[in-house]
Amino acid sequence: MQPQKRSRRRGVILTPQGFQKVQSAKSELESCENFNKRYTLADLSVRTGLDPDTLAKVFACEVGVDKQTLKCCFRAFNLELELTDYQLANSTSKLSNQTTWGEAPDVSLFYGRTEELATLKQWILNEFPVERQSQRCRLITLLGMGGMGKTYLSVKLVQQIQDKFEFVIWRSLLPLPSLKDLLSDLIVFLSNGQDTDLPDNTHSRTSRLIHYLQLHRCLLVLDNADIVLQEHTVQKRGYRNCMCFPYKGDREYREFFKRVGESTHQSCLILTSRDRFKEIAPLEGDTRPIRVFYLKGLQVPEVRALFKTKAAFKGTRDDWSRLVKYYAGNPLALNFVAATIQHLFNNNICDFLEQHIIVFGEVFNLLEEQFNDLSDTAKEVLKCLAFNQRPLSLLELRSHIKISISSQVLLEALESLTARSLIETKASFFSLQPLVMEYVNSRYIREKSTKAQQIDFLNKEPQLQIVE
Ligand SMILES: Nc1ncnc2c1ncn2[C@@H]1O[C@H](COP(=O)(O)OP(=O)(O)O)[C@@H](O)[C@H]1O
Ligand SMILES: [Mg+2]
Repeated sequence: MQPQKRSRRRGVILTPQGFQKVQSAKSELESCENFNKRYTLADLSVRTGLDPDTLAKVFACEVGVDKQTLKCCFRAFNLELELTDYQLANSTSKLSNQTTWGEAPDVSLFYGRTEELATLKQWILNEFPVERQSQRCRLITLLGMGGMGKTYLSVKLVQQIQDKFEFVIWRSLLPLPSLKDLLSDLIVFLSNGQDTDLPDNTHSRTSRLIHYLQLHRCLLVLDNADIVLQEHTVQKRGYRNCMCFPYKGDREYREFFKRVGESTHQSCLILTSRDRFKEIAPLEGDTRPIRVFYLKGLQVPEVRALFKTKAAFKGTRDDWSRLVKYYAGNPLALNFVAATIQHLFNNNICDFLEQHIIVFGEVFNLLEEQFNDLSDTAKEVLKCLAFNQRPLSLLELRSHIKISISSQVLLEALESLTARSLIETKASFFSLQPLVMEYVNSRYIREKSTKAQQIDFLNKEPQLQIVE
């Protein structure tokens, strides 16, 4: 990764952490030595030997001062100025940034998502006063079913806000690099290639990365982060004994995500994922620095625009809305379907819908891939909802599901299915989207017919032997 541009440096300002440190020390002195009365700038000027104007700049944390000034100020409060206490003055204003895109896809054909982009920008860029900067979003998980457009949205978002950051890194975690390698890549990039003598263990390496996230305003996107939840990644790396842990997958990676979310810094990490991370979920909140964004499908006008780039499709308003509803606005599934309608139905949407075949070919494979990732309980939930053909409450699900499971395991399965947009929740009732309903039914029909064929084959076997 080679930095593309260098940022200019104009003095330093306190980081939220540095500001907090000096504020706490000041409050302590005010209570011990000043009868709980606040020190004026004139008082502080006497204490620090700095003139009041300079002190006002130090506490406003906007205009840069020289590092010696901050040192003086810290010394007056018996504090030592550390690397994490200050940052470059221009790191929060408009920046000339350094960007690395990895293998991010070309998103020039991009439709809709105006609201989603607006919300995410507000979460990431919303400028809080310095004492509330710790409330700015540091970790966002962008959740949704495969093919829903998470990758595309993340790239578009980064394109639109990259100039607000000093460093921008977009990376796919497929294939999954070792955490150590990823960290060293990120650190080398964020240090302009200077920091190459890195600690060997991942914990210290993560601390080093967080140091850079404090020092500079960085935007990191890790796409396909759900790979760290998958069992086979554990097995591939030979940690078979991890199977006895309650959580699957790469625990180190998830600890890393959690630490980036929890520690104070001025950067933002975005994860795109098909499932939630149990370590992060309890820390999330609508007004917290750690948030989750559920990505839903595209709307009819956007799907029409998308189809138009393929061919001129024919359909009534009702045809279009049925089509989009069946596929829950999933752009990947709709792209597959568009090709079928184009090649087999002469661009006629109505003719295709009349076949009543929603799940086939690549659409089946798309769902199959997601289904295979699910826990046994989650699979049972889908089966149960498909079999009953109506929304069910938690209580009903418990009584209908054939395998014996605890409420805790059932709730976890429901959370995972919601995160993946495989089920919908309305007034505490759970239901399947038409696409998922069709898939689960067709999957079990296939399974049954395969079993029937096998039984048929076994029954016929003696006859075959006789013929031989
Ligand atoms: N906003 C969009 N506009 C147009 N096409 C899109 C959009 N979002 C996704 N797509 C299409 O859907 C496909 C799947 O999107 P992607 O972002 O890879 O899904 P995910 O990451 O959720 O699996 C893309 O390859 C692209 O063709
Ligand atoms: Mg993706």
